[in-house]
Amino acid sequence: MTSHRIAVVGGDGIGPEVSEEALKVARATGVILETTEYDLGAARYVKTKEVLPDGVLEELKGYEAILLGAIGPAIGSKEVPSGILERGLLLKLRFELDLYVNHRPFLSPNPHELAANKVCDMVVVRENTEGTYAGEGGFLRKGTPHEVATQGSVNTRFGVERVVRYAFDLAAKRPRKHLTLVHKTNVLTYSGDLWQRTFDEVSASYPAVEVAYNHVDASCIYLVENPSRYDVVVTDNLFGDIITDLAGAVSGGIGLAASANLNPERTGPSLFEPVHGAAHDIAGTGRANPIAAIRSMALMLDFLGETEAASAIEKSLETSPPQGLSTKAIGDFYAERV
Ligand code: IPM
Ligand code: MN
Repeated sequence: MTSHRIAVVGGDGIGPEVSEEALKVARATGVILETTEYDLGAARYVKTKEVLPDGVLEELKGYEAILLGAIGPAIGSKEVPSGILERGLLLKLRFELDLYVNHRPFLSPNPHELAANKVCDMVVVRENTEGTYAGEGGFLRKGTPHEVATQGSVNTRFGVERVVRYAFDLAAKRPRKHLTLVHKTNVLTYSGDLWQRTFDEVSASYPAVEVAYNHVDASCIYLVENPSRYDVVVTDNLFGDIITDLAGAVSGGIGLAASANLNPERTGPSLFEPVHGAAHDIAGTGRANPIAAIRSMALMLDFLGETEAASAIEKSLETSPPQGLSTKAIGDFYAERV
């Protein structure tokens, strides 16, 4: 059996705890993982003022994949200015490794207990390297009463087309073969127009995929009232950020939501992480839910070609653990079932 070289960035708060359970469950499938841990995140920044040293970035490029727990300081902490870790670590990895697809699946646990229209079985494909996240903008006359701040949105034909193609490919492989573009074309008439035209043009090569369009505000109503209408959704970086928190909340809670930051061309490692943050308030209490990290691990194994192990984890996740289990006990629960 081949072994896989994985970099593990446990990070801050509950990140290390949930990553440990994800690795435990992965190994229980029989897959061999050779892991190396990297100390990155708020704690390291506070100690050393380092965010992502160039040498570490270069080393990370040499792995097959990266598992990231969570990064970020406690809410209200004054030691790490807002944006330092987000831009300097997580977004830097997404950009430098060209992880242009943020693949975020949402599956309601215990779907048989829900009304049919409340069942979530969808994937949001979030563009992950452009939009408002590209960091275009700046200040003018900062700190004066006449201050100006701009924050642009970068949308390239190349960047939009490659993520839209990924979404069509994905939709074509799923039973429902349905893809919705989510944007705000009625107001963002430049970027929205580029997205809509690209979507329509790519659509012509996928006659088997049924398509739809929703404005992002309307998609929030549908996600709450009738999430079952969605199969695959493709959207820009910021809309994707927002609607995936909502989709997490309506499909069993953010503690279950997994994500894969993918470089589909495999020119470097892809990065797998739960959608949730560091949750410092419950760190070390055993109350963190490791399911999002475990499901992110399944996404990693699937991407690495370990499809049997990935399916075994996915299958095990169809059973919810008994109420009240600790982080470790939930990890054990799934480790015994894969
Ligand atoms: C996410 C997070 C990140 C984002 C933050 C931490 C930069 O919210 O992965 O959804 O905005 O993309
Ligand atoms: Mn987010």
